[in-house]
Amino acid sequence: MSTRGSVGGQERGPERGTGRHKVLPSPKKQRLAGSAGMPSANGAEKAAQVREMFARIVSDYDTVNSVMTFGRDHAWRRAAVEAVAPSGARVLDAATGTGELASELCRQGCASVVALDFCLDMVRVARDKVERRGASERVTFAGGDAQRLPFPDGAFDAVINGFLMRNLTDIPAALREFHRVLKPGGRLACLDVTHPPGLLRPLCLFYFDAIVPLIGGILSGDFAAYRYLPRSLDGFPDADRLAEMIAEAGLGEVNFQRFNFGMVALHTARKPLASA
Ligand SMILES: C[S@@+](CC[C@H](N)C(=O)[O-])C[C@H]1O[C@@H](n2cnc3c(N)ncnc32)[C@H](O)[C@@H]1O
Repeated sequence: MSTRGSVGGQERGPERGTGRHKVLPSPKKQRLAGSAGMPSANGAEKAAQVREMFARIVSDYDTVNSVMTFGRDHAWRRAAVEAVAPSGARVLDAATGTGELASELCRQGCASVVALDFCLDMVRVARDKVERRGASERVTFAGGDAQRLPFPDGAFDAVINGFLMRNLTDIPAALREFHRVLKPGGRLACLDVTHPPGLLRPLCLFYFDAIVPLIGGILSGDFAAYRYLPRSLDGFPDADRLAEMIAEAGLGEVNFQRFNFGMVALHTARKPLASA
């Protein structure tokens, strides 16, 4: 099941960052570098907790994901890549995690992928996976914060992120960064869990609040980490509001579609050609 929404893009100028390039040139030749930037006081504390939590669950992450989503997560990532990253594109996978989106980007013919995450344990797993899948020539790994990207303006044809947005401490800052590093005309895709609408809402929330932490806890042995998942929706904007925020960051052609009874949303947008 998928439903759609959209919002009129506003042509507001982005705030400019001072992204320094901090890319890891080759998985074989380079050790992983540290995070490129950290958010402010409270944000820094939450970011450290999120990073530490993902480091704890990294070894079971893919299995738990597949079980929790009944294997549908691969189709959602495929849809995200198809929506924004044409063959030959240079793409940033912001918050690559275990590298599933980076692998899919290569599978769909992207020329090059920068796979960034602020959890270096995740990046190591992603690097090994991409290498096993024979795509390491096209993927560069980077340690860094999606809210303060270590890349110059206009560096990418597309920016994509999967299941990142709920974890951010400053969503507008990340969206401004995505806008900044996109070329004019470049495309953005944000795929994440969202607040389910309509009659199925209570059922969806029961699944997310009660079943997901149980499955995650049993499979990983880390019940605390998977209790974080439903909590991560608290205060997270609903799909309509997230679309507005994307437009407020200066992106146009903002649309979203829902999957999985409305529990997952794929937002897409385009940086206007007139943008600097
Ligand atoms: C739920 S995982 C998703 C991984 C992957 N994109 C996928 O589709 O499975 C979220 C990832 O976001 C990363 N992350 C969270 N906040 C981040 C930030 N501010 N900057 C960079 N990475 C971040 C975490 O370390 C984690 O690897």
